[in-house]
Amino acid sequence: MLSPARAAITSVGRFLPEERLTNAQLSEMVDTNDEWIRTRTGIIERRVMWDQDKATSYMAVRAGADALSKRGLPADQLDVIIVATVTPDMFFPATACLVQAGLGATGAWGFDLSAACSGFVFALNTGASLIAGGAYKRVLIIGADKMSSITDYTDRKTCVLFGDAAAAVLLEADTDGAGIVDSALYCDGRNWESLCMLGGGSLNPPTARTVEDKMHYIHQEGRAVFKVAVRGMADVAAEIMERNSLTGEDVRFLVPHQANKRIIDAVARRMDLDPNRVMLNIERYGNTTAATIPLCLNDWEHQLRRGDKLIIASFGGGFTWGAIYLKWAYDGVRDARTDGEAA
Ligand code: UT7
Repeated sequence: MLSPARAAITSVGRFLPEERLTNAQLSEMVDTNDEWIRTRTGIIERRVMWDQDKATSYMAVRAGADALSKRGLPADQLDVIIVATVTPDMFFPATACLVQAGLGATGAWGFDLSAACSGFVFALNTGASLIAGGAYKRVLIIGADKMSSITDYTDRKTCVLFGDAAAAVLLEADTDGAGIVDSALYCDGRNWESLCMLGGGSLNPPTARTVEDKMHYIHQEGRAVFKVAVRGMADVAAEIMERNSLTGEDVRFLVPHQANKRIIDAVARRMDLDPNRVMLNIERYGNTTAATIPLCLNDWEHQLRRGDKLIIASFGGGFTWGAIYLKWAYDGVRDARTDGEAA
């Protein structure tokens, strides 16, 4: 008897703006310094797409196209596109529609998913359910955020943290045991004001006052968020390991949301994980919100082998948090030129 299909990641891709914003450059813009940023966050530089005429969909299309071309899958074979983002090009249409057109994904429907830094985790779980339900075969999940568009570069508390990027994964059915095994997802809106952008929505539609009061920028009470982020991410990672009888030895990699190196270190300690089994690239890209986790998967793809057990974990605005346990589905870097089985 065939085992039930699981949704497995069968390709990854990314887009990074070329321009780098270093700690030294930020030190000229606000009262900060390289030492503070490195020791408190782990960040050395981040990418920024200053171009006014390029928005999140620009990066998302390129990340999606990268994942599809590595798999050798024409865009018209896609069934669904989910874009996780808090910086959509505009309220509507959904950025997923712009990505659908940009990719030429003529057979796909799609939507945006807003869960801040947990956006990719929530979208991955949603896409996996669509595949496991049997109605859809190929779902593209993109985490994309142009954080520079909502960052106040006069506020040292937030402007050192964020960067722009997009990264994508393709989900397809796997009947041989690989794929998404389990997930634990949460939200708790009671303390939403700790991390939010107040302006622009139906509560505070844009006016001269909302602009003057800087309500169109990220607001974060860093220390308060830090405490709940450490606890939330560590608890949910421990929960999913216990539920699946996993020890630190069993986990090939922790794939954590990259908000702060100190949070990631605390989660790894709780999981009893060797630091070389933790994906960490915050020093190069900063916090790219929905893009951090697929960006890690892309950057570590060459080290991954079929059957590797990964724990993905996130914490973000909302608050939203969650973990996913998955078994990786393929060996090394996906390259359609040496892999004729797609499409
Ligand atoms: O991704 C979604 C979820 N978000 C997170 O998980 C972020 C969680 N929070 C954090 O990562 C950290 O709280 C931050 C990195 C944001 C801040 O680090 P912290 O160690 O919590 O610093 P703090 O906010 O407690 O500030 C300590 C001091 C303050 O000065 P005083 O009041 O002690 O004199 C700040 O004004 O550091 C000051 N400070 C800075 N100094 C130099 C804050 N930002 C800066 C800066 N450069 N950029």
